[in-house]
Amino acid sequence: MSEADNFVLVTRRGKRRNGRRNLLRNALSSVIVEQDCEVDHEFLLRTLDKAVVEIRDTSFIKFIFSRLSESLAVLGSNSISEIVCYGLGQFSQYRSSRCQLALLLCLKVRYEPVRVYVYDPAFYPEEVQTLRALGLEIIETNEEGKRVVQRDRTTLIYMPHCSRQLTNNFLYANWGNGLSSCILLANSLSNTVDNSLHKDVLNTAGYILRIRPYVTEIRLENSFVYEEVFNDLNIHIFTRQNLLKVPADFWNSKEEPQYLTKDVEFVTAVQ
Ligand SMILES: C[S@@+](CC[C@H](N)C(=O)[O-])C[C@H]1O[C@@H](n2cnc3c(N)ncnc32)[C@H](O)[C@@H]1O
Repeated sequence: MSEADNFVLVTRRGKRRNGRRNLLRNALSSVIVEQDCEVDHEFLLRTLDKAVVEIRDTSFIKFIFSRLSESLAVLGSNSISEIVCYGLGQFSQYRSSRCQLALLLCLKVRYEPVRVYVYDPAFYPEEVQTLRALGLEIIETNEEGKRVVQRDRTTLIYMPHCSRQLTNNFLYANWGNGLSSCILLANSLSNTVDNSLHKDVLNTAGYILRIRPYVTEIRLENSFVYEEVFNDLNIHIFTRQNLLKVPADFWNSKEEPQYLTKDVEFVTAVQ
């Protein structure tokens, strides 16, 4: 079954430009989504409900919850106070995004009264409305992944299948011992380094490369029924014990990442 079988899109206003969906999907464009489709809000809520039901009793989610509990114990934290989610994608149209949102909603219930912040430049206005109705808070500006998290509480950063540059930006913004207050649920940092040419990682993910020896990566067994939804996603934590091992000047060199135009795989704030 293809993802297209799961469209929630109801009608379309005007013509979609050729290839535009791909452009957005790959996040290579600076296009701000114009509203050229209508999404049935009630139908979308029902479809999301179904997605939550589909995921909430799976062994996959139980595994994630238990790994998160272990991670919190290692970090000496009681709970997750905030969740920041970048890059969910257009969940009214894509099954992967919808299931990823369903996981986010399960995490919200689990860590209540957690505050949940979401941002994706590709969201349709109806999707934003739906997210608000579900009690999520919309980040109003494009932070390019550079949100600085509070050090006195634990924040879960959920970036399902976001580009490595976006994750790199997040690490840059929080570069320092404060990383120990983050749990990063994102594409495997070790795979990012190991499966690419060294020069490419240097150019596109220098902070991932540098933190790699000090990160604890907890592999998530991808047992979810749709293999593509959570593949390559792992939990990453930065324990105080490991951060104590970094060389003396490790945190001092902290330059804002600059990417060559050809390497920009996210929507930038300034065009
Ligand atoms: C490869 S898609 C992943 C979509 C979905 N999570 C999935 O797995 O199918 C990357 C997502 O990152 C989003 N994105 C691009 N720039 C972003 C930014 N500056 N902040 C947050 N999300 C961004 C894109 O709009 C896109 O939805």
